[in-house]
Amino acid sequence: MRTAVYPGSFDPITLGHVDVLRRAAGVFDRVVVAVLVNPRKAPAGEADGRVAAIREAVAEALPALAGRIDVQVFDGLTVDACRAVEARHIVRGLRAVSDFEAELQMAHMNRRLAPEIDTVFFMTALEYGYLSSSLVKEIARFGGDVSAMVPAGVAARLQAPEGEGPRL
Ligand code: PNS
Repeated sequence: MRTAVYPGSFDPITLGHVDVLRRAAGVFDRVVVAVLVNPRKAPAGEADGRVAAIREAVAEALPALAGRIDVQVFDGLTVDACRAVEARHIVRGLRAVSDFEAELQMAHMNRRLAPEIDTVFFMTALEYGYLSSSLVKEIARFGGDVSAMVPAGVAARLQAPEGEGPRL
């Protein structure tokens, strides 16, 4: 069975991430979405909301693939997350050339740490090439419409008034 790990912050998951996930599930038998917890940035419990949002998005947007997509929290090295689930591949999305340099560095570093694990890149669909989680959050914070950028559940949570419903 070919397993890949798709690591990221997913803060929050966007339709660009969903698109990469769909492509990855077309190539691999099982894709483990590894949601990074950065203890220096946010408490571990905060990742649970992101995990729930990803699971909901998968069930909604990729129902036929949901049985082959797992979502987990991780707080260590990506290569250790791969070893824990016996994955030999890391999946990352590339939106534009500007992503390439940092991704190349990470891929080389991960190969140095774990030569048996390869990084595979999927080109995000053109219509999502401009999307980023941080821009989405900024737009939502100032009341902009993010419904064409993120799964419906995420948009609802981001745009819910403070104190109404779970936040991401
Ligand atoms: O969605 P992001 O923020 O671009 O994802 C970055 C991520 C989580 C893939 C990267 O920060 C990562 O792999 N963090 C885990 C720690 C690690 O393995 N660091 C070495 C990477 S070369």
